[in-house]
Amino acid sequence: MEKMWAGRTAGVTDRIADDFNSSIRFDCKLYKEDITGSMAHAAMLRAKGILSQKEAEQLIDGLQGLLEDLESGTLEFDFGCEDIHMFVEQVLTQRLGDVGRKLHTARSRNDQVALDLRMYLRSQIEEISALVKDVLRAITQQAEKNKGVIMPGYTHLQRAQPILFSHHLMAYAMMLLRDLDRLADCRKRMNLSPIGCCALAGTTYDTDRRFEAARLGFDGVTLNSIDGVSDRDFCLELMSCLSILMMHLSRFSEELVLWSSWEFQFIELSDAYTTGSSIMPQKKNPDMAELVRGKTGRVYGDLMGLLTTLKGLPLAYNKDMQEDKEAVFDAVDTVKMCLTVFAPMLATMAVKPENMKKAAQAGFINATDLADYLVKKGMPFRSAYKISGQIVAKCIEKGCVLETLPLSEYRAFSELFGEDLYAELDLNACVEKRVSEGGTSLSSVEAQIAYVKERLA
Ligand code: ARG
Repeated sequence: MEKMWAGRTAGVTDRIADDFNSSIRFDCKLYKEDITGSMAHAAMLRAKGILSQKEAEQLIDGLQGLLEDLESGTLEFDFGCEDIHMFVEQVLTQRLGDVGRKLHTARSRNDQVALDLRMYLRSQIEEISALVKDVLRAITQQAEKNKGVIMPGYTHLQRAQPILFSHHLMAYAMMLLRDLDRLADCRKRMNLSPIGCCALAGTTYDTDRRFEAARLGFDGVTLNSIDGVSDRDFCLELMSCLSILMMHLSRFSEELVLWSSWEFQFIELSDAYTTGSSIMPQKKNPDMAELVRGKTGRVYGDLMGLLTTLKGLPLAYNKDMQEDKEAVFDAVDTVKMCLTVFAPMLATMAVKPENMKKAAQAGFINATDLADYLVKKGMPFRSAYKISGQIVAKCIEKGCVLETLPLSEYRAFSELFGEDLYAELDLNACVEKRVSEGGTSLSSVEAQIAYVKERLA
């Protein structure tokens, strides 16, 4: 078929070149935005007297019919078309005749595609944010359910200090809240309309860009027509936010994998979110968590790919930019899948408090509290630190722990030790003493839970 842009050339391209050039296989995702954007464009052309009332009505009705037919399945995409914009215009023209050819007045596919993409991605931000909130709800539920559970906190993956399991969970809640904030912030910059920038330089028609922007729910318009059609920083910014979000999910996933290992046994994932091995009958594999961790690399790849595509492009539009869509769609779809499986996987996870407690009781996790005890009795921290280290070495030599080393042995290191030491070394006490704001004491964790719940309300 002759191309819509036939004129300068015969508009007949090689089949292989056609396939190579075409984007409709993936930009058909933008059909709704393309059609609603076009309806607003027709309305604007009418409001400015560029189209007659009748022409605008015909176009808008035609577009509405096209949308309905696509959604009901009576109209199918023609994958022979170059892209979604050409497809919509082509069907409209087939249905309406000449008036269909008037729709593209005072616009270009360059501003059209930028418009469609901004509209599509801003609604994806809403969907992703809702899914992040589902994960946040699962986290706070588990934190509330397991409020008093003590586990070892780690640094360098070495047992460090006792903490509440719920405190550890709430750390992820804080990260995800920031992810929500980042997405909202990204949406703000994304939500400016590029339509009316036209090919690159604006237009000679007396248009009203703000009329169109307001109809389509934008907060304003892009202020430079070249910028409006040639930057894809809104895609990059979204993918950066998504990469950080995935990094958080990936770290969490790594811990779920570790915690559900036979060595840790801190948690058990529900059967519904694990798989078996085809050969080893004893296996219960945390595939979903591993896949979330794995797909993080994929989302980073989408970001790096588009950054690289854009880095050498002269202004304004270049066809290279058609590569933006597969990258950003893949990142969005991947993140949505991960969040969708992550929330119920977390919500159904069983926690094993005895195993966490047992792990917390070994490894001299209360050695800091031992040093703090001496400091409270008047010893400088550095000296207390050294003596505590020597006492740990003593315990290792004797095969006991701090709680079971007799007072007489303690007093050989310092006269400051008294009977009250043992209460200080108790794990519950170690946790409860950490009352600094944001610390691991129960009251602090409760405050964190309340804060997150308030943000979710
Ligand atoms: N399919 C194109 C894209 O995704 C639409 C814009 C085409 N503009 C052009 N001047 N060829 O980028």
